Amino acid sequence: MVTEEKVTLTNERVKVIFGDLLDSLRQLIIKDRITESEYRALIEFVSEMGRLEYEVPLWFDVFLGVTVDNVTYDHYNQMAGTPSNILGPFYLEGAPVRSPPYRLGRDNEPGDVLFVSGSVLDAKTGAPIPGALLDIWQTSGNGLYDHLDPDQPDFNMRGKFLTDQEGRFEFRTVIPQPYEIPKDGPTGRLLAMLGHHAWRPKHIHFKISRDSYLPLTTQVYFEGDPWLHDDLVEGAPKPELVTRLEKHDSHKEIESKGLDRPFFTARFDFRLVPATS
Ligand code: BEZ
Ligand code: FE
Repeated sequence: MVTEEKVTLTNERVKVIFGDLLDSLRQLIIKDRITESEYRALIEFVSEMGRLEYEVPLWFDVFLGVTVDNVTYDHYNQMAGTPSNILGPFYLEGAPVRSPPYRLGRDNEPGDVLFVSGSVLDAKTGAPIPGALLDIWQTSGNGLYDHLDPDQPDFNMRGKFLTDQEGRFEFRTVIPQPYEIPKDGPTGRLLAMLGHHAWRPKHIHFKISRDSYLPLTTQVYFEGDPWLHDDLVEGAPKPELVTRLEKHDSHKEIESKGLDRPFFTARFDFRLVPATS
């Protein structure tokens, strides 16, 4: 005889979190005297977000991502690892594993050529970590992520690279541009109502992993960006994650890279926390 297994739909964590959420929302309704028409407007706002492809993750990451990141990586940040940073709504699984010399973007990718280099190091011992996997994504020189830009090929500005025997990496890309979230969707309209702009400073995302180490998700920012101290995502550009763009315009340097125009370099070292910490 086949007996049906009883499926338990609740778990303790959901019970606690959902209970607290309801408590907080009910208190909010009372405190701010939210009326039926305001409540219906909120339901319409959430429904509209649900009908659009990226609006729900966008809203959550704009307003709650940093807090979740700080809770998630609390331990990591205390172990002298590189500070973590939000994943953001635009990570895609399945970026291609590239072959060296590593590169993002097309031959004629618009924007200034940038070489990013650095090392992946053990946060405890400082030893280099060979074979660490870097999963990288960024906007192109037009300030758009590839999957939201019909002119860019799939995974144009995304790729997976490995550190070499000395734990080092280098890749060629273009300087990403500040990114403005869509202003005509619910999140953009809400920001306008709040009198807030919709810009993020230019940044490159990194997910770094290696056996025996805790994985790290972070972003690297650049000095001098007009939005660095006024990011739409409040608190995201942690000072330790900011690096400098160095311009190279001598004939000799340009020639050494096989280029016909000035280029930029930026350095960043990542410290991974051992899994046993
Ligand atoms: C981003 O990293 O690009 C991003 C993060 C949060 C909200 C919007 C964009
Ligand atoms: Fe981003």
